[in-house]
Amino acid sequence: MRKPRRLTPDELAPFEWHPPRRFGRWGVGEVRLEDAVPTPLAALDWPALFGNPNPVEVEVGMGKGLFLLTQATARPAVNFFGIEVVRKYQQFATTRFAVRRLPNVKTAYADAKALFRDVIAPGSVSAVHVLFPDPWWKARHKKRRVFTPEFAADIARALPVGGALHVASDVAEYFGVMTGILRAMPAFRELAAETTDGGGFETNFERKARAQGTPVGRARYERTAEAVTVAPDPATG
Ligand SMILES: C[S@@+](CC[C@H](N)C(=O)[O-])C[C@H]1O[C@@H](n2cnc3c(N)ncnc32)[C@H](O)[C@@H]1O
Repeated sequence: MRKPRRLTPDELAPFEWHPPRRFGRWGVGEVRLEDAVPTPLAALDWPALFGNPNPVEVEVGMGKGLFLLTQATARPAVNFFGIEVVRKYQQFATTRFAVRRLPNVKTAYADAKALFRDVIAPGSVSAVHVLFPDPWWKARHKKRRVFTPEFAADIARALPVGGALHVASDVAEYFGVMTGILRAMPAFRELAAETTDGGGFETNFERKARAQGTPVGRARYERTAEAVTVAPDPATG
């Protein structure tokens, strides 16, 4: 990983959202959120965080932040919030946004599942992007995958009617699991789903997949007015 200039915590601070300290580390590491938080949490206040009422799009697992960097630069009237569970990637990506002084990106070092479940208010985000989530190849590790039926339901709750969900993966089996979960949810309507063998890239992992000639699946969904349901878990049939 090429090291960008190391910024001080004060320089990074305007680009980060930190959960209140007393709530522990948001399910990262040893502290489980449900153990650490005795009372209901205040919802994330997007206008207060960004200083404007613009729509907010969330990326789950932004890695080194290429997607957010491109999007936030191209679409200054949209706010972007990146969640990353690995501290060094969250800091790397945040540094990229901070050195460019992008006013419309904030990040959190956190477990996206915990944030969607506990602090992202219903209907409060206009789009969610889950791009190349870790596949956790081994059967015994698959339970670590971020994209589960419960997580898809939490995403659906976070979106208003008409809100967008964008998923992509270069792992055909995982792409099938994600689209299978979403197709089983009346709360989502599939707008597009395709697997392509070439073309450009939007994220670091997509760049690697394209360079290796690995097909990439990408699908887009719209939130319908239907109630949120939890799809059957493909892991248990
Ligand atoms: C395979 S990488 C893809 C990174 C980026 N989206 C890309 O396409 O280049 C998956 C990323 O998701 C992060 N991640 C995994 N589980 C997560 C979770 N529960 N919450 C937030 N980030 C998570 C990983 O740390 C990793 O950076």
